[in-house]
Amino acid sequence: MTFKRALVTGASSGIGEATVRALAADGWRVLATARRAGRLEALAAETGCEWVAADVTTPEDVDAVVEAAAAAELTAVVHVAGGALGIDRVDEADPDLWRRMFELNVIATLNLTRRCLPLVRAAGRGSLVFLTSTAAHGTYPGGAGYVAAKHAERQIATTLRLELGGEPIRVIEIAPGMVKTEGFSLTRLGSAEAADTVYEGVEAPLVAEDVAEAVRWSLGVPEHMNVDLMVLRPVAQSSHTTVARHPLAVKGDA
Ligand SMILES: NC(=O)c1ccc[n+]([C@@H]2O[C@H](COP(=O)([O-])OP(=O)(O)OC[C@H]3O[C@@H](n4cnc5c(N)ncnc54)[C@H](OP(=O)(O)O)[C@@H]3O)[C@@H](O)[C@H]2O)c1
Repeated sequence: MTFKRALVTGASSGIGEATVRALAADGWRVLATARRAGRLEALAAETGCEWVAADVTTPEDVDAVVEAAAAAELTAVVHVAGGALGIDRVDEADPDLWRRMFELNVIATLNLTRRCLPLVRAAGRGSLVFLTSTAAHGTYPGGAGYVAAKHAERQIATTLRLELGGEPIRVIEIAPGMVKTEGFSLTRLGSAEAADTVYEGVEAPLVAEDVAEAVRWSLGVPEHMNVDLMVLRPVAQSSHTTVARHPLAVKGDA
């Protein structure tokens, strides 16, 4: 049985934080990374994970993550750091926001993949997990920048799977739809009030723990099984653009 040592990016909140908890509870030794050191420190006190604070879009910080990962003898890398900025239509899009989304979701994922792959190879076998999105599989008005970045991130995984054919390295894509997390819509829309409207009237959006369970399960299946792609949505979201919303109760209703 291969030893269980995972690097998890985006570990200071939402899906990444829940993934650290799920893997640590499942016997994995986890190296957690994100920018906010205080939150990683608290997570380490709770789960026993190791951590390194880093901005994955900054080369020196990536060096520090890779150095820590080399010491941890990795068998899995879980790329969670990512996100969306804005909901501008194409004709009103801000190229700078697109550039930042590409830097985080695509280029940082590429860099960490390139740098960590030799570590996984040295371990003898392992898994690379890419947390994309249903936005990697379809589009919606106002989504083009994020959709384009997630499509590009997905192609790192799909191409790498072909290129690694014959090596004992699994390439896994987990693509969630609507997940109500602390940071995603807040970062995208800029205020808690605006973020709340995303989930308004939706009976039960996915939560970070749902997605973390998918990651944990995909890594735990027998080593000859590769979960190429897992698409997860809440029952209330029947397609990328179709979400059932209950009318909100009016104050004074019985
Ligand atoms: N929520 C959804 O509906 C949803 C659906 C599908 C896919 N996803 C994807 O799931 C992933 C996690 O999203 P989430 O919902 O958990 O959002 P979140 O709560 O905002 O978490 C984002 C994580 O990424 C880290 N991060 C952001 N910029 C970074 C940078 N430059 N360097 C290092 N770390 C950085 C953040 O930590 P710091 O701020 O501390 O750096 C945080 O830990 C993203 O890739 C997102 O695209 C989300």
